[in-house]
This record gives sequence, structure tokens and C-alpha cells, in this order.
Amino acid sequence: MSLRIAVVKGDGIGPEVIPEAQKILEHFLTDADFFEVELGLARWEKTGSACSPEDIRELKGADAILFGAVTTLPDPNYRSVLLQIRHELDLYANLRPIKSGEVDIMVVRENTEGLYSGIEEVGEERSTTLRVVTKAGSKRIAEKACSLILERNRNHPLVIGYKGNVLKSDLLFRDTCSEVASSFGIQTKAVFIDALCLDVLQHPKKYDVIVTTNMFGDILSDVCGYLTGGLGMLPSANIGDKHAFFEPVHGSAPDIAGKGTANPVAAIRSAAMMLEYFGMKGEADFVEESIQSVIRSGFLTPDLGGSASTAEFGSRVYESLSKK
Ligand code: IPM
Ligand code: MN
Repeated sequence: MSLRIAVVKGDGIGPEVIPEAQKILEHFLTDADFFEVELGLARWEKTGSACSPEDIRELKGADAILFGAVTTLPDPNYRSVLLQIRHELDLYANLRPIKSGEVDIMVVRENTEGLYSGIEEVGEERSTTLRVVTKAGSKRIAEKACSLILERNRNHPLVIGYKGNVLKSDLLFRDTCSEVASSFGIQTKAVFIDALCLDVLQHPKKYDVIVTTNMFGDILSDVCGYLTGGLGMLPSANIGDKHAFFEPVHGSAPDIAGKGTANPVAAIRSAAMMLEYFGMKGEADFVEESIQSVIRSGFLTPDLGGSASTAEFGSRVYESLSKK
């Protein structure tokens, strides 16, 4: 049976970058059936719902999802579409690779609990957000991180980003990660997340896989964006046991939306991560080589100092790829 790929362009620059990524997928997945799902703020403004149970059913029916970005309203009654999907599809592992020159880091972010558990009380005088860390949740993300360490085979310890000096919940996270790692025969190094954010910028080459809780992973991955030329470069995969969802780390970027100048590299790399998920590592490497060769030629979008448009950059990558 042919693969079914859901495509969610979303809001802001999502509809600008996603076609460039979809083109690459269509090139390699010639038999796949691509279907669009409209989600996000624009959809909410039209229909009063940003993501319905029917949409979730459609997404669950896909073999993989390519997702652009959605704008999240900071309104207590507006539920983040992204968080809803991560929870409903139980996409517990958020994989965020940071690659640039000799830097090759994989941030493995726990994606379903921590400060993003959705247990909150909003009040006039006092608001609370409950940070939940479970043994089961920590175990499954640690297992994912350990299998990645073995796959990458670089003989590095597993770095655990945590803040156990202040947050007791992080001691459970650290200890569970260490237990899992030792069952895999992997060494660990637990580092406080604040110090880790600095050290990863000062000594990026010494890092391989970093496992951390939900919000720390959110922050650390943006911090690491500095190493690659910015957020326009960072892809991600959200993986569960049954579903897989691929999205650029950047958001909908309303400030540059509609100009056709957004950098499509993060979206194209997310498509490459999908190819890898389908076992097409060679094809994913081709995509990366094509991106690199276009960048080396000096053809760049404005965020990297050039003047290429999203579509022009995407076409160059596509041309370079079709020649291979
Ligand atoms: C990300 C984003 C999301 C997050 C927001 C938009 C819910 O910042 O994917 O990094 O915090 O996870
Ligand atoms: Mn983020």
C-alpha cells in the first residue's frame, strides 16, 4: 500500500516553506498519497476551531505528517494545536538535530510531560503550572536517546540536561535516564541545564546526544540554533510508537510572513528526517548535500545575509537534487 502523508501548512510562513519541503518528498516518495489538513489560527478565525477531533483522526490515519507552523494565541482559552497533536498522537520524542561543520548534536526532548503537561490554574493573584515527571515517561525518552547514541556510534556519553539542585522532579528524570543508560552499557553525564546552555555554545563539538525534559529541550534547541546560523536552519521530528510528525523548529514568524523570504532549510531538513524515518537514509543524505551545495554557492535567504526568496532557494535545492 502506498504511504499516506498528511501536510499541514498552518499559519504565517508555514504555507511558504512547506511547498518547498513537499516537493522534495514528492521527488522521492513517488507513490505516496499527499493530503492536506487545514489547522491553526486562520482556521480558528474562520470556523472557531483550530483543530477538531476529526482532524486528529485524519492525522492519526497518516503514515507521517509534514507540518509548517501555527500561530498560538497567548489566550487562556486557546489551546495550542501543536501541544494538542503531540499529546493526542503521543509523540513523546522530539528529536532536534543541530548540524553545522563539525558540530553534530542531537537534542532529545521529552515531549509529553514536564511543564507542558497542561495541568494549570489561571488566577488573578496566583497562577500555577504543574511540572510532571514520571518514571515511565523518563524511561521511554531515555531509551530513545540511548538507541540514538548507539546508532550514531560516536562513543560519547549521554548528556542529561536537568536542574535537580532546585527541581526535585528532575532527580527522578536524571536517575531514570542513568538507569536506562547503564542497561544499554552507556555512560552518562548529568549537567545543570543553565550551565549546559552556555557550554554547548562554547564547546559544541564535544556534544553528541543530549536528553532533557520538555521545556528545557525547547529552550536548549533554540539556543543551539545559534550554532547553525539561526532558527531557519533547524528541523525536528516528533516521534511516538505509532505516529511521526516532522516540523521546522521555527514558528509561524508573523513578522516576515507574506514576503516570500523565509528560509525553507528547516522545513526541507524536516522532510529529510521523514525520509530517514522511512528508512531512506541515503536519500536524506542527498537532500542535505543539496542544501549544503546551494549554501556553499552563496545563494542565501535574507536571514543568512543573502537576498534569495523562499521559492528560489527551494528550487535550487530541488535542481541540485534532481541532478544526483
Ligand atoms: C517548539 C515551539 C512550541 C513548543 C510551541 C509553539 C508550543 O516553541 O516547537 O519549539 O514550545 O514546544
Ligand atoms: Mn520552541
